[in-house]
Amino acid sequence: MSESSAVRIGIGIVGVGNIGGALARHFARTGHEVAVANSRGPETLGDLVAELGPRARAVTAEEALRFGEVAVVSIPLHAIDRLPADGVAPGTIVIDTNNYYPGRDGQIAVLDDDSSTSSELLAARLPSARVVKAFNAIYSAWLAERGLPAGDPARLAIPISGDDADAKRVVGELIDEIGFDAVDAGTLAEGGRKHQPDTPPYGAEAGAEQLRRLLG
Ligand SMILES: NC(=O)c1ccc[n+]([C@@H]2O[C@H](COP(=O)([O-])OP(=O)(O)OC[C@H]3O[C@@H](n4cnc5c(N)ncnc54)[C@H](OP(=O)(O)O)[C@@H]3O)[C@@H](O)[C@H]2O)c1
Repeated sequence: MSESSAVRIGIGIVGVGNIGGALARHFARTGHEVAVANSRGPETLGDLVAELGPRARAVTAEEALRFGEVAVVSIPLHAIDRLPADGVAPGTIVIDTNNYYPGRDGQIAVLDDDSSTSSELLAARLPSARVVKAFNAIYSAWLAERGLPAGDPARLAIPISGDDADAKRVVGELIDEIGFDAVDAGTLAEGGRKHQPDTPPYGAEAGAEQLRRLLG
């Protein structure tokens, strides 16, 4: 786990609760420029920005999506319909941490009948993005607290999936920097099914080798 990234990039984060907040802290600590947004407006994020330090600023969700090379969407799934339609610059890597919980999100027919996945719904909302599903299968407390240096036998692994190999490489490097191993689970359609809630990798306390076995 490095304290400073070799390549510093801009990362906008929409949703700074348990998962998005942990990512904002990791990415600011490793030297990236971070723009954070929530549903209530930038004026409500002063404490977080002060904690994150000089590389952080609070913005609107619209601005966060257009802030940098990478954007994170970490909100309840039902809220993705309120994101600005295709509100990203072409080619932006969008990290999707979201999961489908019908009790929170309401029933979504295309997910209930398995004809789509939650990440494909986000990709349809942001068609100019290169969506990578990541951080959806790890508990937020582990993400916040259990980063370890590369090679540590206790290092946890995180499944990622997506349709763009270069985008997955970039996300894999960010994951490594913050103290975890990334394991490629395939395309968005495949991976979305392999590491969604109620699958073996979901919430697994696993290193890279074990996670590969769990992903089948
Ligand atoms: N918690 C976990 O352990 C965990 C693990 C893996 C994946 N996930 C998934 O990751 C996502 C985030 O989970 P979380 O636990 O971090 O959620 P959370 O703590 O409830 O935080 C949600 C964040 O999303 C923001 N938000 C909600 N609607 C928004 C909108 N329309 N525009 C902009 N921001 C909006 C909220 O802002 P306000 O506070 O201003 O409303 C808040 O900052 C969920 O889909 C969840 O299922 C969670």
